[in-house]
Parts: sequence; structure tokens; C-alpha cells
Amino acid sequence: MSRPFLLAQLTDTHIGADWGGPVQPAAALAAAVDALRGSPDPPDALVVTGDLANDGAGEQYAVVGEQLRRLKLPFVVLPGNHDDRAAMRGAFGLPGDRDDAIHAAAELGPLRLLALDTTIPGAAGGALPEAELHWLERALHDARDRPTIVAMHHPPVLTGVPAWDATAIDSRDQTALQRLLERHPQVLALIAGHLHRTLVAAFAGRPLVVVPSTYMQSQLDWSCEEFVLVPEPPAFALHALLDGRLVSHVQPIV
Ligand SMILES: [Fe+2]
Ligand SMILES: [Fe+2]
Repeated sequence: MSRPFLLAQLTDTHIGADWGGPVQPAAALAAAVDALRGSPDPPDALVVTGDLANDGAGEQYAVVGEQLRRLKLPFVVLPGNHDDRAAMRGAFGLPGDRDDAIHAAAELGPLRLLALDTTIPGAAGGALPEAELHWLERALHDARDRPTIVAMHHPPVLTGVPAWDATAIDSRDQTALQRLLERHPQVLALIAGHLHRTLVAAFAGRPLVVVPSTYMQSQLDWSCEEFVLVPEPPAFALHALLDGRLVSHVQPIV
């Protein structure tokens, strides 16, 4: 049997945050990179699904870049609500004008990664404006036969947890994305972050995998009106493509 193609996913590194946990976010990201480097099956590519910097500051992106480059892998970064598009664009040399949406289509071996920007500058909530959906539609139309993952920061579902749903993507945008993906069966899965927990849901008939932060996690509490961060184990994901089928693993970092 052939070896799977492995896409690693890190998310919500929050460099610069100080939320009172036992480990600082920069050290936690370094530990995640060490864990990936020490893996018996090193990944082939990497995506970081937003909230890289806690305050969108240039020096915070420099820390992220320094750590990611230790992996010596092709990587894709997309923004979360804590990120600043212009600072992130400058730090990683991303194309486009300062405050434009940051999206990317990356050809990673046998896998195509489409990274979406779900952020609203200055707001915590998520959105998928028409321009972003139009970009996705065109990108999917361009490569109908390529196995594809769609990556984004805010997951496009409601959870029933008030604290999380307060920053969810607008339900009309969720529906528009669902209809769009129903026309494109080459999308194998959606992957996201933002919730600082592991979640799995179905979306447009595909799995949606939400991956924990490399830093701190959020408390699972359906009555909780506010995000409560807890020092539960961080994790990364490995999305394994084998013979056209995708199997996603969430690996705690110990
Ligand atoms: Fe986050
Ligand atoms: Fe977030």
C-alpha cells in the first residue's frame, strides 16, 4: 500500500496572548513544531488556520514564521479574527493589497488546498462575503477533478454553545457555502479552528473537522455565555490522503 500524503494543521497559536495557562503561546507553538518534527511520519505540507498572532502585531508573526520555517515544509497561512491582514501579509510576503482578504489556492502534491478568509476586520465574528464565495467557486471550477480541502478559521456551523455561536459565520453565508459545495464533489473535507476544541460535524455532505489550539482550549459548556479558556491539552491534526480518501487524525501534544 502506498504511503498517505499528510497535511498537518496547526491553529490558534495566539502568539502574544497571556491567558494564565501553565505555558506561554510561543513555547506551546515550539512544542507543536517539535512534535511534528519528531513524528515517525513527517507531514508533507502544513496549513495554519488563523489566530496566529493574538494582537496582529508584526513581531508576533515573526515568531510564528520562525517556528514554521523549522519544519522545512510548504505552508499556507490564513487569517483569524485576532489577525491583522496587512501585518500578516507583510510578514509572510502574501500577494494582494494591504487589507484585502487573504485567500490561497495551493497545489500540495496530490491534494489541493483552498484557504478562505472568514474574517471581518475589527470584529470577532465570521462572514463569507459574496466576493469570497465567488473566488471559491472559480477556484473549484478550475480544478474539478483534484481532491480538495477547504480550510477556514471560523467553522461554518452553529454548535448550540452561546459563547461560540456569538462569533459564528452568519447563517445566510453558511447556507450559501453549503449550496456552493454541493456543486463541487471534489471537496473531500472542510477544516477549521477558532473554537479551541475538537469538533466534527457534517457540512454539505462532507466532514467538517475543527482542530484544537496549540495554546489553550475552550470549556465545553452549553450554558456558557462567554469563552472560558482552560489548560486542556493542545493538539494538531494530520489529514491523510490515501487513494483519494481523506482520513483526519487529531493528535494531542504531550
Ligand atoms: Fe483563537
Ligand atoms: Fe478565532
